[in-house]
Amino acid sequence: MDRVSRLTVPLVLFSCGLADAADVTVAEKLLAMPRVLIVAHRGDSKRAPENTLPAFASAVETGADLVELDYRHSADGVPIVIHDETLDRTTNAARLYRRTKMPVAEMRSREFEKLDAGLWFHPRYSDVRVPTLEQALDVIQRGSVTLIERKSGDAATCVRLLSEKRLLDSVVVQSFDWKYVAECHRLAPRLALAALGSKELTDSKLDDAQQTGAKIIAWNQKHISRQQIDAIHRRGLRAWVYTVNDVERARELIGWGIDGIISDVPATMLDVAGRTKSDDQ
Ligand code: G3P
Ligand code: CA
Repeated sequence: MDRVSRLTVPLVLFSCGLADAADVTVAEKLLAMPRVLIVAHRGDSKRAPENTLPAFASAVETGADLVELDYRHSADGVPIVIHDETLDRTTNAARLYRRTKMPVAEMRSREFEKLDAGLWFHPRYSDVRVPTLEQALDVIQRGSVTLIERKSGDAATCVRLLSEKRLLDSVVVQSFDWKYVAECHRLAPRLALAALGSKELTDSKLDDAQQTGAKIIAWNQKHISRQQIDAIHRRGLRAWVYTVNDVERARELIGWGIDGIISDVPATMLDVAGRTKSDDQ
């Protein structure tokens, strides 16, 4: 692999957090690399509890090009890193509050600090907390690039946080909600964006996705073909897929020219892509 490129991205990230002096942002440089990018889905989520700081640290250590996370707004409007709308699957909230199906949107940000987000995965992760988006960014951006998936909350809050942390040029933001993607583009035209989709990928959907300002089409791997990857490329866009854990499927997609693979097993995907950690140093 291109050792220089792999070194260049974190160096720029560390030194200034922005690339506003240059025409090409840190994120754009990463996207333009002539190799398939490996994205750790919800962190290194087979090795550590999804969407927690240990899962993010493990993904960075593995050498993932990007680390994906999901965020939702708390009742007081703080972006909190959690996938589901309710707390039951990945926290101990039901036991703690003796109530099931508590919505994330009804909890105030300070209340998340009381929750255990690791015990459900393995006892060794008890005491792991639900992170805020800010805490997650601090861990991931030390050695990788964050793929921020918005599940709920307005675009302005996310853009403001990224701007305050000087990360607008150094992350990728994605959503299934294309109005949100378009609003991010309006507020921060240099922010790298992905339009997420899950069902049949038609030309008219590609038209709509492209109009948001997204440069990446991130699609469910079950609904993507070689022809559709070609169609995405003809528009000058990048084609990413989620969630690929099967080695043979990954090989097939790489053969078709896929640009990014979002996976729960980033180490395996790095192997499939012919990447080893020493290549990257
Ligand atoms: O990165 C895309 C993928 O994460 C979308 O699905 O449900 O895992 O957020 P989900
Ligand atoms: Ca996600």
